[in-house]
Amino acid sequence: MNTAFWPLLKCLVISGTGLCIPTHTRINTSLPINIPRTGGPAGAEADVYLPLSCGRDAPAPAAPGSARGPWEGGRWGRGRVRGQQAASARGLGERGFRAAGPRGRGVAGSRSRRRKGAMVVSVEPHRHEGVFIYRGAEDALVTLNMVPGLSVYGERRVTVTEGGVKQEYRTWNPFRSKLAAAILGGVDQIHIKPKSKVLYLGAASGTTVSHVSDIIGPDGLVYAVEFSHRAGRDLVNVAKKRTNIIPVLEDARHPLKYRMLIGMVDVIFADVAQPDQSRIVALNAHTFLRNGGHFLISIKANCIDSTASAEAVFASEVRKLQQENLKPQEQLTLEPYERDHAVVVGVYRPLPKSSSK
Ligand SMILES: C[S@@+](CC[C@H](N)C(=O)[O-])C[C@H]1O[C@@H](n2cnc3c(N)ncnc32)[C@H](O)[C@@H]1O
Repeated sequence: MNTAFWPLLKCLVISGTGLCIPTHTRINTSLPINIPRTGGPAGAEADVYLPLSCGRDAPAPAAPGSARGPWEGGRWGRGRVRGQQAASARGLGERGFRAAGPRGRGVAGSRSRRRKGAMVVSVEPHRHEGVFIYRGAEDALVTLNMVPGLSVYGERRVTVTEGGVKQEYRTWNPFRSKLAAAILGGVDQIHIKPKSKVLYLGAASGTTVSHVSDIIGPDGLVYAVEFSHRAGRDLVNVAKKRTNIIPVLEDARHPLKYRMLIGMVDVIFADVAQPDQSRIVALNAHTFLRNGGHFLISIKANCIDSTASAEAVFASEVRKLQQENLKPQEQLTLEPYERDHAVVVGVYRPLPKSSSK
């Protein structure tokens, strides 16, 4: 698609209506994929980096796309309680975050850094390209802010001087983003990296989309599909400041309605929380996903079948995906951030091994 038309296309947003319900859980790699891998972020092979500030420093009301209530002076309102209990059960702090510090938890030495006066902070790359880990009083998952000076949903910004250059990062809250929860849970691949073209289904007001925008950078593109008017308004405002987000206010069940706005993509990320989500992803994959491209789907078991066990729902969704040429490769639950949610990651029409390099 000719990039000269993007600003024009960004105006061609079409409206719809919708409800927002979040999702997630975890299982893992290598087939057969239906064997749950237990343990949340504290799992042995997981990268355990917890946000330093999601609670205390992110007092913004919950985004319209979130089932979580507003920050209520020290604890999350409606919806947070479960995550909190789960987090406490795993030995995390009350807010679900673990301060870096001695005694073998977090990063040894943080407390002594604090005692000496000036806090030494740093940022190091996460193994997922475009994602970083902030090391300070508390460690946090962060992304490099594409629009320095601006937060998107009240998240904390941190500035670090690297080689004489100041860089601003935005903290990424796993209680508000299933992609962040999956990364903290140790997902093997996210396939979203600098320069990626991403189709994001269920963008809500742009919380996670904004971090995807940071990861892919100015040379990437994220087409953000959302059918709720209210969330769509916020999303459009986020996109006004971030040139790599194309908001598409449409129903993801009808990809042909927005096919003129979207080119072929490398990755589809879906978080629509609908009973027919697998079908929605398949329709969009057949229309926009390149062969050998990847998908990530957040599945909320309750949304699909509230009478079956979460594991049974995940297995049945995986079967639906397989029937559509979407080959699941990894499955992971999102405790302690979300209960009975899973993220499934896979490949679409895998290329023959010789041509996939
Ligand atoms: C769980 S929320 C998404 C949260 C978002 N992914 C985030 O991390 O910030 C689900 C969103 O999907 C949207 N949605 C549900 N069904 C949809 C559909 N058929 N087409 C477009 N958006 C849809 C809802 O309006 C809602 O905003």
